[in-house]
Amino acid sequence: MYVEASAPGKMILFGEHSVVYGKPAVVLAIDRRAKVYAEKRTDKKVFIDADNLGFSGYFEGDEYHAVRGKAWRGRNLAALNVSARKTMEYLGVEGGVNLKVRSMIPIAVGLGSSAAICVTTVSAVERLFDAGLKNEEISKLAFEGETIIHGKPSGVDNNVSTYGGVLSYDKENGIKRHKLEKNIPFIIGNTKKKRSTKKMVENVAALRERNPVEMEKILNSMGLIAESGLDALMKANINRIGDLMDLNHGLLSAIGVSTMKLEILCHTSRNNGALGAKLTGAGGGGCMIALAEEPDIPNIERAIRRRKSESYRVSLTDKGVESKWVEEAYADS
Ligand code: MEV
Repeated sequence: MYVEASAPGKMILFGEHSVVYGKPAVVLAIDRRAKVYAEKRTDKKVFIDADNLGFSGYFEGDEYHAVRGKAWRGRNLAALNVSARKTMEYLGVEGGVNLKVRSMIPIAVGLGSSAAICVTTVSAVERLFDAGLKNEEISKLAFEGETIIHGKPSGVDNNVSTYGGVLSYDKENGIKRHKLEKNIPFIIGNTKKKRSTKKMVENVAALRERNPVEMEKILNSMGLIAESGLDALMKANINRIGDLMDLNHGLLSAIGVSTMKLEILCHTSRNNGALGAKLTGAGGGGCMIALAEEPDIPNIERAIRRRKSESYRVSLTDKGVESKWVEEAYADS
């Protein structure tokens, strides 16, 4: 018997970076999920099998012992160890777990893979001990794991991965869930350039420190765009959503988180019929998103691929974190 848990990745439609400074963000869960298969151990180790990424190993406390792959890979897995241990600590149990991680969310490109893996880990571990934690508790514990990777995350990623659906989020008021009447088709363009969210957030913080007055105005404008963007999304006014995506992207370029490749993908999408395009997530590489009418989508996808980038059409999902017991031997999963 083992537990299987899964949680979705996300795309930020409006408000990345400005959300770190208390402004609202609009975030959508996408139909690409991270999975964790978990079972209890008889000792206190946290063993993590990330074999499809080429590494696995175990933690004794905070110390990583590589079984496959280099020892420094422990840094990638530390967030899972923290998520698992914080969950056990919260539940008041002392134990160890085996975690097998399999994710369909591309890593370090702005689609929320690390938050999804932390949320999934917390969910798998709490289910192993039949704790029945609420989503709010799962999200909070995952946030502690995410902090290991991102330094000072805003909390938007762990929330959307836990709850799924369409969320608006700001630090003061937390999440608000919204129901879309109509599925709106988005295209993701992945530059395949990995980058660190922590570093990008630090760069923006340094720019803000050097230019506090100007940055305040830009961040406020981003907040305003997110508010208008939510309204346009609820009315399914795709032309207006497109305009606001372009505006948001321009401001993200202004604060230095775009790259030449992201600019090229946004421009080529617009030239091929997109109603709007912007980078999504922390920037510095990673992904952009485009919004288009159905007949234009194949052209945009082709144009993105011609620029040596990956392109996927994504569907939004209401399905947040889930876990269940599976009546089979762990090794067969
Ligand atoms: C990362 O997905 C989004 C950022 O706003 C950072 C954060 O919210 O923690 C760049």
